[in-house]
Amino acid sequence: MLASRRTILVFLVVAFILFNAYYLGHKKPQKSIPPLSDRQAQLWQSLHSLLEQHVPDCPPPILHRSAGIPRFDAINETPRKSYIANADKIRQPMQAAHDGFVHAIRNLKIDHAYVPGTMGIVSSAGGTYLPTFVVSLLLLRRTGSTLPVELFMKDRTEYEPSICEVILPPLGVKCVVLSDIMAGQGGTGIEGFQIKSVAMLFSSFEKFLWLDADCVPLHDPTSILNSEPFTSTGLVTWPDFWANTAAPVYFNISRQPEPLSTVRQATEAGMLLVSKETHFLTLILAIYYNYYGPDYYYPLLDQGAPGAGDKDTFLHAATALNESFYSVSETVVDLGNVTPWNSQTAINAGYIQADPIQDYNLTSQGKWRVGDPTVAKPPRAFFIHAGDPEFNPGKDLLGEKLVGFDGNPTRLWTHPPGAMKRLGYDAEKAFWEETTAVACNSQFAFESWKSKSRLCEDTRAHWKAVFLKPDGKVPEFTNG
Ligand SMILES: *[C@@H]1O[C@H](CO)[C@@H](O)[C@H](O)[C@H]1NC(C)=O
Ligand SMILES: *[C@@H]1O[C@H](CO)[C@@H](O)[C@H](O)[C@H]1NC(C)=O
Ligand SMILES: *[C@@H]1O[C@H](CO)[C@@H](O)[C@H](O)[C@H]1NC(C)=O
Repeated sequence: MLASRRTILVFLVVAFILFNAYYLGHKKPQKSIPPLSDRQAQLWQSLHSLLEQHVPDCPPPILHRSAGIPRFDAINETPRKSYIANADKIRQPMQAAHDGFVHAIRNLKIDHAYVPGTMGIVSSAGGTYLPTFVVSLLLLRRTGSTLPVELFMKDRTEYEPSICEVILPPLGVKCVVLSDIMAGQGGTGIEGFQIKSVAMLFSSFEKFLWLDADCVPLHDPTSILNSEPFTSTGLVTWPDFWANTAAPVYFNISRQPEPLSTVRQATEAGMLLVSKETHFLTLILAIYYNYYGPDYYYPLLDQGAPGAGDKDTFLHAATALNESFYSVSETVVDLGNVTPWNSQTAINAGYIQADPIQDYNLTSQGKWRVGDPTVAKPPRAFFIHAGDPEFNPGKDLLGEKLVGFDGNPTRLWTHPPGAMKRLGYDAEKAFWEETTAVACNSQFAFESWKSKSRLCEDTRAHWKAVFLKPDGKVPEFTNG
């Protein structure tokens, strides 16, 4: 009895020791995923060293003149022109650097630092663009969209605590400061156009809609993120007015065939749909083009055409890597007023871009309105890019475009009638309602408005004069 008890006791003690030895020996160290900000900083550290390693080893391209403003023509092919004076000198060294970078990123094993399965909207705004962004955001929320928004700022000088911490979080917006992620790693030289591609890289979303601060969806953009052409391509771009004017030598450098001038327009990158699941490399190559943009790739990709900058880096990065994309084909249209001496053409006061789902529906049936507008009715307008003027009363909104040729306050957008009918509703009225709401609420204490006065009064006065006038002429917003 005693013996067996002792045996059991010894057995239990031995079992306990063996179990502990086994358990401790096999227990893996507790593995926790580091915070996203650390993963992003790590990503930038790796990427920054690759960017630096593959600097073009030659003087920058020299433009001997500008490509000017060639309108896109879908019918008549025009040979691509070169305005680069030193093309022969830069071809080989820039190609070697491009080859090296593409090879390096194809072999890069790196944490992509985003949250799988997420979807949202990415934008950037600081300083005088912040009020514009907030008006655009309120208009986005009017569409019923609940998509989360990440708003990027260059550095702490652009971060406005009262806006970022009080106003924006309940509206579903998180402010992200780029220099916090890129600290000490060459992030301080990132300026202007370059911010866009880097902001896309550091957004936490897997799939996103990029929106410039002055770009407003007229409908909930969730639908376009969940449908063709985005679901199968992973990259959707919208067209500019202009022909693509990339230099022939760029296509040698990036080892891709030269597209015909009739294939598609240059890009207007106020809005883009991007999937980081499928187009992470495209995004990284676009960052390369932007990192070496001001000196090297901007002059190569546009040769001085209007809006030179980041706009054409995304699509060219995709074609250089042979990755898929859909470029919306429906022509971008200026909205504005006409002058007494030209009743045909609107003076640009913003422009509209088409619904990509409806555009794709037509082109996939072989109906290319861009070559022959009679083949089908146009897709509805999906975005207004309201950049001239921006809806920011602290900037140029209350300027000369609001006074008609009869000297009275006027709507900004009345022409052309066909484009007005694609809006579907009185978008300008909605723009003014949100602008007044922001201008007349003292909580919206933007830094750039501190030196301004009468913003509320002047905005409201225009609103009353134009939209509350019983005899005010209202354009048609639908096809009846
Ligand atoms: C550059 O590319 C063009 C067309 O893609 C080709 O015709 C030309 O031979 C190339 N030039 C060089 C020097 O590789
Ligand atoms: C590009 O991709 C297409 C299909 O995605 C493929 O058929 C083609 O061979 C690729 N071209 C190159 C040069 O990799
Ligand atoms: C295009 O739209 C029509 C009419 O709404 C629809 O029947 C058709 O399935 C659509 N086609 C594509 C390719 O989306």
